[in-house]
Amino acid sequence: MTQYHLPVLANQCAEYLNLRPGGIYVDATVGGGGHSLKFFEIEPKIRLFAFDQDDEALTHAGKVLEKHNPVFIKSNFRHLRTELALRKISNIDGILFDLGVSSHQLDEAERGFSFDKEAALDMRMDRESELSAKQVINEYDARELRRIFKEYGEDNLAGRIAKAIEQERSNKKIESTGELAKIIEQVAGKGSKESLKTKVRIFQALRIYVNDELDALSFALQDAINILAPGGRIVVLSYHSLEDRIVKNIFRTAEQDCLCPPEIIKCICDHKSQLKVLTKKPVLAGEEELEQNIRSRSAKLRAAEKKGEK
Ligand SMILES: C[S@@+](CC[C@H](N)C(=O)[O-])C[C@H]1O[C@@H](n2cnc3c(N)ncnc32)[C@H](O)[C@@H]1O
Repeated sequence: MTQYHLPVLANQCAEYLNLRPGGIYVDATVGGGGHSLKFFEIEPKIRLFAFDQDDEALTHAGKVLEKHNPVFIKSNFRHLRTELALRKISNIDGILFDLGVSSHQLDEAERGFSFDKEAALDMRMDRESELSAKQVINEYDARELRRIFKEYGEDNLAGRIAKAIEQERSNKKIESTGELAKIIEQVAGKGSKESLKTKVRIFQALRIYVNDELDALSFALQDAINILAPGGRIVVLSYHSLEDRIVKNIFRTAEQDCLCPPEIIKCICDHKSQLKVLTKKPVLAGEEELEQNIRSRSAKLRAAEKKGEK
């Protein structure tokens, strides 16, 4: 059996979380449970709330973490504050976000996340959600498709690929990952490195859109900062520049004391600094991990601590 998911920068995540016995921690993206397991190994006496929107991930993590008995919550992390409040938790000591999809989700052809695995166009992390990649590709007009590819994939061929999709589906519905990959190749050329990158970017853009990933991230980060207890830590692992930019900006804003424009002489916003950023530059994987885990290549870890009297 192939490994479900090898956790990235696991020791560093645990270190930044500053685990302490009796502390309340949240794994916002439990996936295969690798990070959480590491946390329990380092400090068995934590209370852990583990979120994922994918049922299969929760089933797997349930087995991996069985003896530690965390509380599993099937939910998008955008609802973390409400879900925790329902369980009478309003102050936490640390939270980890390990963003994106797991290796298992990518490996499982039928989920439709990979352009090199033939499958129905799906890409929903939560299989109960309504919008799938197939709907987007077959029902959205070329302008909207272009916007999605440009905004979430930052691809220069966005407009041409959107038009080619519109043209193709006027003959027949685009049903599979292979059909979409072929259309991208027709525009970007087949077999070149650039064409491969374009496929990565277009599939990434679709996945981000279908799962509303960036909006959920912004929303959840703000809520997470608000429910951290003084001295509590937030750790985020991101895998592409769009995510990292959001994390960096939200941390930076939460660190500032005043958000008034520079021409305002006396502060009128009353914004108070909530966070101390612990990673001025993102932490990256070391050579050994880079060799062992391909996913770690694009990983960036940022961490911050909540201010206030402990
Ligand atoms: C990179 S994997 C996490 C791997 C995990 N840290 C481990 O060690 O196995 C990301 C997981 O987060 C989940 N996920 C992504 N976005 C989510 C969201 N907005 N809400 C809840 N779960 C999410 C995915 O379903 C996936 O299982």
